[in-house]
Amino acid sequence: MTQQHNKLWDKGFEPDQMIEEFTVGNDRALDLELAKYDVEGSMAHVTMLESIGLISADELPVLLESLSDIAAAIDRGEFEIEPGVEDVHSQVELLLTRRLGDLGKKIHSGRSRNDQVLVDLKLFTRQKLLDLARDTSRLFNLLIERSNEFKDYLMPGYTHLQVAMPSSFGLWFGAYAESLVDDVTLLAAAYNIADQNPLGSAAGYGSSFPLDREMTTRLLGFHTMHYNVVAAQMSRGKTERAAAVAIAAIASTLSRLAMDVCMWMCQNFAFVSFPDNLTTGSSIMPHKKNPDVFEIMRGKCNRLQSIPNELTILTANLPLGYNRDLQLMKDILFPAFKEISQCVSMAIFMLGKMSVKQNILDDPRYDYLFTVEEVNRRVLAGTPFREAYRQVGMEVQNGTFKPDRTLHHTHAGSIGNLSLNEIAMKMRNTLAPFRLEDDPS
Ligand code: ARG
Repeated sequence: MTQQHNKLWDKGFEPDQMIEEFTVGNDRALDLELAKYDVEGSMAHVTMLESIGLISADELPVLLESLSDIAAAIDRGEFEIEPGVEDVHSQVELLLTRRLGDLGKKIHSGRSRNDQVLVDLKLFTRQKLLDLARDTSRLFNLLIERSNEFKDYLMPGYTHLQVAMPSSFGLWFGAYAESLVDDVTLLAAAYNIADQNPLGSAAGYGSSFPLDREMTTRLLGFHTMHYNVVAAQMSRGKTERAAAVAIAAIASTLSRLAMDVCMWMCQNFAFVSFPDNLTTGSSIMPHKKNPDVFEIMRGKCNRLQSIPNELTILTANLPLGYNRDLQLMKDILFPAFKEISQCVSMAIFMLGKMSVKQNILDDPRYDYLFTVEEVNRRVLAGTPFREAYRQVGMEVQNGTFKPDRTLHHTHAGSIGNLSLNEIAMKMRNTLAPFRLEDDPS
């Protein structure tokens, strides 16, 4: 039995089956993520085609209705890319042609799969970045909340992993909150890059039809378009790389946080703990309550940091214009969005349930955390800094140092003044481009 082929580029011969499978790769599965955006792009395109007379006023509602039906099937999870169909763009057109005959064949005027996939990716990436901004903002709010809750819970601060100066859980939670602001700056930059209309660039060199690109930009809610058609095509790759940099930034913050938690769950520290049902056991050691969640988070987030590099290497030195290599970016970027969002959600879930040990610093092993405090006290009493430093150093050396555990930190961002309102304000400004309050989903 010969397989049915439904190629948009059918010219009366069938490519070898092996060639077909090799070039289509994972597209039939990955493109399902793009399906709703493909339909959205097609709706904008046909509406514009009608406005320039390439589709009649009678035909437009028929096309839009069929496209709405396809969108509804996608929402219900009933849309599939059939065997023998290359990708989502071909499947949507096939469904329209089956239903509407020649009318379905009209929608590809003035467009190519190259700008179709581009517009799908722009819409998809924009939405995923928005979702990630919303999740990151939830994590941020939790960190700020917990920072305030634990502002008086002191802990050792380390340099070189040696006991250094007093810190607090308030400072620790607040540090990750403020660090996320920088990650959201990158997220907003990636969002801006994604939020541009490439539709109308067609195969990469435009069309001789008088396409109204302002109209499709407006219909698709893009804040601007890629004007130059070659620049539009060049944005395939750039958009994904920018998104990957933002994902990697959040991943790097989370992987450090995960490392801290793993270390502090260790009995030698025992600074933090979790309800038993959030820890994991060992198959041989009956006493174990392991931090596997944070180890998996650390591993996933470390792996995610390689994504910008993978995408850069995949696209390095590609010639100008569309090249099929670009298809492979989907294999890397799509799972990365899922993985970072899982990690952010898991961080929210776990950190909300984390308990923190009180009075950690009462242990004499932390006495020397207070040497700088003692030096400062003597400086305020009139001793020059270098002399006070020498005196305290000698006391440590000969074992006579007695810590005074009272702390006097008042400057912005210190353990005595966490500046949480200022940090929250900075995050609000950085998140502004996402307009999260307008979109409560
Ligand atoms: N699946 C393809 C991609 O992701 C769609 C565009 C195909 N264009 C082409 N000229 N073969 O790049």
